[in-house]
Amino acid sequence: MKNDIGEVLFSEAEIKNSVSVLAQKLAVDYKHKNLTIIGVLNGSLVFLSDLIRQIPFSVKIDTIKASTYVGASTSPNAETEIIHNTNLNVKDEHVLIVDDILDTGRTLSKIVRMVTKHSPISIKVCVLLDKMARRERGIEPDYCCFEIEDKFVVGYGLDFDNRYRNLPYVAVLRDDIMIP
Ligand code: XMP
Repeated sequence: MKNDIGEVLFSEAEIKNSVSVLAQKLAVDYKHKNLTIIGVLNGSLVFLSDLIRQIPFSVKIDTIKASTYVGASTSPNAETEIIHNTNLNVKDEHVLIVDDILDTGRTLSKIVRMVTKHSPISIKVCVLLDKMARRERGIEPDYCCFEIEDKFVVGYGLDFDNRYRNLPYVAVLRDDIMIP
């Protein structure tokens, strides 16, 4: 697996540190508030599990499954599909949507619209990575660990063809791996 990797953008230690800083910020911002964290699967699963274990008070957790890429592709589908809707009642809750990356913004703007219909007290977006260069929708992260250039990245939950999610760092794949 390591032979497929090009440049490592963020090491395991850098991610750990940044996630800790972010969790401390969330602990301050949401202290004494009812917080529901909604993770967007599959990409957020590693980030989500590291982040929630550093929040020092009780929170509710739910997930939504979104499908942006099909198979071995690095180009998003025309229409993001939300596969699993949330069952949680978020009416008296502050909601934090957690995803791996904010890229074009199609996925998170769709999820924010969908969750807003459930009338939460507030709704904010938290991502590991912000790839601003490709933004198509008017959405920005409220919380973000790292900004990245327009490169397709894998690791720490991010995949190519459902592989590489288990890498403990974020890296660019070698170009020849992505050529069909
Ligand atoms: P959008 O474009 O809707 O994308 O903001 C959000 C989802 O697309 C996936 N994505 C990536 N996955 N490397 C990946 O492994 C990338 O560079 C990348 N860019 C977007 C990701 O699942 C995200 O939730």
